[in-house]
Amino acid sequence: MCLIASISDLITGKIKVNKIISIGGWVRNRRHSKLGISFINLYDGSCINDIQIIANNKLDNYKNEILSITSGCSLTVKGQLKISLKNIQKYEIYATKIKILGWVKNPGEYPISPKKHSLKYLRKVCHLRSRTTIINCITRIRHNIALFIQNFLHKKNFFWISTPLITTLDTEGSGKMFRVSTLDLKNFRYQKNINFFKKDFFGKESFLTVSGQLNLETYACSMSKVYTFGPTFRAENSNTTRHLAEFWMLELEIAFTNLKSLMKFAEKMLKKIFEYFLNFHKDEIIFLSNKIEKNLFNKIEKVLLNKFDIIEYTEAINILKNCKEKFSHFITWGDDLSLEHEKYLTNNYFNNSVIIFNYPKNIKAFYMYLNNDNQTVASMDVLLPDIGEIIGGSQRESRIQFLDKRLKELNLSKDDYWWYRDLRKYGTVPHSGFGLGFERLLSYMTGLHNIKDVIPFPRTPYNAKF
Ligand code: 4AD
Ligand code: MG
Repeated sequence: MCLIASISDLITGKIKVNKIISIGGWVRNRRHSKLGISFINLYDGSCINDIQIIANNKLDNYKNEILSITSGCSLTVKGQLKISLKNIQKYEIYATKIKILGWVKNPGEYPISPKKHSLKYLRKVCHLRSRTTIINCITRIRHNIALFIQNFLHKKNFFWISTPLITTLDTEGSGKMFRVSTLDLKNFRYQKNINFFKKDFFGKESFLTVSGQLNLETYACSMSKVYTFGPTFRAENSNTTRHLAEFWMLELEIAFTNLKSLMKFAEKMLKKIFEYFLNFHKDEIIFLSNKIEKNLFNKIEKVLLNKFDIIEYTEAINILKNCKEKFSHFITWGDDLSLEHEKYLTNNYFNNSVIIFNYPKNIKAFYMYLNNDNQTVASMDVLLPDIGEIIGGSQRESRIQFLDKRLKELNLSKDDYWWYRDLRKYGTVPHSGFGLGFERLLSYMTGLHNIKDVIPFPRTPYNAKF
């Protein structure tokens, strides 16, 4: 087979007009005119555009095959690239040869027929949904944003650290972890007072990680600026539009940095991502504005242009307590904010993106830096309108005596955290970091309200079919 061109190369003018080229793709739809000409729209996933193939009845397989083509068929096409006479698309291909590689069996039953499908329906056919323009589009955005972020960090002297997915520690202390075990559960007999995990693969109770942060901190304390980007697992039974059991998180960790600088960096990074998206994804934004969220461009631009409001947790609680809004949960100092509270602050009160910092220590993880008031920790959450928390982070407790005190308060074993404590014993430095939920970011940017639509194969309670 000769090397085929991508539709993206044709559309962006990388291939000269009138050249004979070969392309491969799948049929979006086709129309056969009575004059013996067929118009076939082909996509190959390389860009948002399809390309129109013009096939006439002089082709040897016109009657036998081309007239039977239906949407979903896979083809290779050889032909001449021409400027389109109609304005709908810039280029088209006059086919000299069309080879059908794969037919669609029972076209009436093809799950991705050209009619409009709801996103909900598409979740039931995850293995085929990337054939739709919308999921195809989201997938390219996901790829580009992941590359952009890593390039951005690379330019700022961050190193990518591959942190482990299997761990024995519950970083966030939520207890919502998936067990990793090779014990034979089917023939398992429980015996009191026996530590059966000793016999397990790792000789210890082990889990899929909820965050790579603790391991990442070890490298921050030697390489200064580091990040990790990978899947993260939470066995939370929350079937919401914002939660996945397996999601991708970008976590970064910076040495010699306190909470204030971290908050600045988080805002700057988010704005850089949005700026890149607006500048380099115009076609996608127009497409998504037509299909999904009308004001997508303005929404993103607003985050980009406005300075985030930065308030202390205590101030946030005062605002929420004194406002007239009827929340389903009345909130007082010491409570965690739920989405309705976050949304009130971003959408109503500030009409802006908001960073809340200095949360009470009792609602945050053990590793956060204790403030002088002994009640709050140097933590922060970045909230965007509608979606709420998108980033969570903190300055880390770098003082061994404070860390040990906190471990004790939370009934956590010092022995389990011996290596984490070593960082504080040997050349400790102030350091800070945050985690950005990658799918929450994509959901916000694309307007696809349900997080399940921005990851290829979502994992949620009772759903790991594909
Ligand atoms: O706030 P979280 O739990 O923070 C941490 O895990 C820290 N260890 C991060 C760090 O400081 N290195 O999670 C960070 C972000 C959240 O703000 C949210 O965007 C996303 O991860 N997130 C989820 N996204 C999808 N599904 C879930 N179940 C999520 N849980 C958290
Ligand atoms: Mg959080």
